[in-house]
Amino acid sequence: MGHSLGWGRRYLMVRPDHFRIDYVINPYMSTQDQPDPALTMKQWDSLRQAIVDAGGEVEVLEQRPDSPDMVYAMNLGLATGDGRAMLSHMRFEPRRKESLTAADWFTGHGFELSRTGGEGIGPHFESGDAFLFGDSLVVGYGPRTEADALKHLATEWNLRVRGLRIAHEGMYHLDLPFCPVDSTHALVYPPAFDAASQAELFGIVPDPIVLTDEEAFAFSGNSLVVNETIIMPACSPRLRELLTGLGLKIVVLDLSEFHKGGGSARCLTNPLDFDLTPATLPGGEVVLPT
Ligand code: ARG
Repeated sequence: MGHSLGWGRRYLMVRPDHFRIDYVINPYMSTQDQPDPALTMKQWDSLRQAIVDAGGEVEVLEQRPDSPDMVYAMNLGLATGDGRAMLSHMRFEPRRKESLTAADWFTGHGFELSRTGGEGIGPHFESGDAFLFGDSLVVGYGPRTEADALKHLATEWNLRVRGLRIAHEGMYHLDLPFCPVDSTHALVYPPAFDAASQAELFGIVPDPIVLTDEEAFAFSGNSLVVNETIIMPACSPRLRELLTGLGLKIVVLDLSEFHKGGGSARCLTNPLDFDLTPATLPGGEVVLPT
């Protein structure tokens, strides 16, 4: 087994005081199927508590009343343990106000802020599409993040960026079909990507744990590892055996209210401690699937 990830101990979460389905920007959302506020809060708090129980830390940000999707904090920005943050430039207009509050939060907490664009200029970037894995920052692009954002990340932060083209409308962020587990293992759902990117994915992940359709659509890929614990919205017996075999403790939480907006455990949590050192490369480099 690989060694531990080295990040994923500090998170930002947004308390879901104003979580609603006001508009539809992914195939899971329906304005006819609204979340129950009390159950929403209970499920959110069980996630916050599970992270703390696993030895992690959680910072809490208040939700803007005008931004019902802000609960999916993973998309607020890509943050590093050494105090840098790349703000998201959201693809869809109804989510753009979230970035105003995120910018204030990052700045107020000592992060040096960068952005790929804003107000109609520059490529879209949503941080639910970006993870450090191995020697690179792996970034999904297509449905939300645009390819030009990868260039921006590579040059602004001197990074080796490996792009994976997402070609599945139900897997619109990288954090749905890809979940780093340790330095060599990741949960992956190949049908989320085009053929070239599937090949690239297997080049990036030495020990892939391939999710079935059923596991992927139960949001098992939208899990998070905190120290030796993996927090998951669903875990099949098969996955349980594989993950236990890696020495992980499995915590399964009911996050069904959040599935109504198209996100689960990972989407609700923004890691604040990525150590980008392994991906740092003077001048940067973008590797796209060919
Ligand atoms: N309704 C949100 C959207 O479509 C869900 C975001 C899920 N977050 C994530 N990191 N995948 O933007």
